[in-house]
Amino acid sequence: MRKLIVANWKMALGLKSSLRLAKFCRSLAKTSSQQLVICPSYFALAPAQALLRNSGCALGAQDVSWQEMGAFTGEVAAAALAELGCAYVIIGHSERRQFLGESDRLVNLKLKAVLAQSKLTPIICVGENWQERTKSKSQAVVKKQLQAALAGFKTKRPLIIAYEPVWAIGTGKVIEVKEAQLMHRFINKTAKNLISNKNKLLILYGGSVNPDNAKALLALPEVDGLLVGAASWQANSFKKIAKIK
Ligand code: PGA
Repeated sequence: MRKLIVANWKMALGLKSSLRLAKFCRSLAKTSSQQLVICPSYFALAPAQALLRNSGCALGAQDVSWQEMGAFTGEVAAAALAELGCAYVIIGHSERRQFLGESDRLVNLKLKAVLAQSKLTPIICVGENWQERTKSKSQAVVKKQLQAALAGFKTKRPLIIAYEPVWAIGTGKVIEVKEAQLMHRFINKTAKNLISNKNKLLILYGGSVNPDNAKALLALPEVDGLLVGAASWQANSFKKIAKIK
């Protein structure tokens, strides 16, 4: 089965380098055995969409406003992202939770805003930090995040959850495959209890994914794809991940 490889470009690239990499991903999508998604900064979404048309590489945003439309300086509405041709939106990334104080409640509101747009699929990020992990609280933390994010949902739309242990993001620390497998099973069970079982649910793994560890993670049936940060900013390393069979 084709898995989803989502490139999170974060704030790593300017306009020129974003479009150069988007062009590269356009051709990569033709030969990749996986479904590719790139998530550039907002300013690159429109030109990237023009480049990617009919390429098989999809477009996603790194964030979205919790509000529908109106006087919210600096925010970008889900409707505008849909209009731009985005198919995916990352919600509740740990960097936003950590540096911008995004709460579970805000994640829940953003999810509602995204699901109001029929063309958008949310990618909801969850994950514990190192301290929580050492206290064996990983599952409890993730469960709480899922309960808060998915509270009040009655939707048949597909949902994507990205398990991204905070201690593994941008640190080079790689999770044990077995640990990832157990957490993915736990997330699957927990999320399915919270939403209707009919929802198509994909669970991605993210956190220092690179060409060396991606294969073992993708081989797990519990892992439906990867959310890749730093390794997706360079054509070479992203290509190696995208070409894994
Ligand atoms: P990383 O980032 O691959 O650089 O650890 C992943 C992410 O934050 O989505």
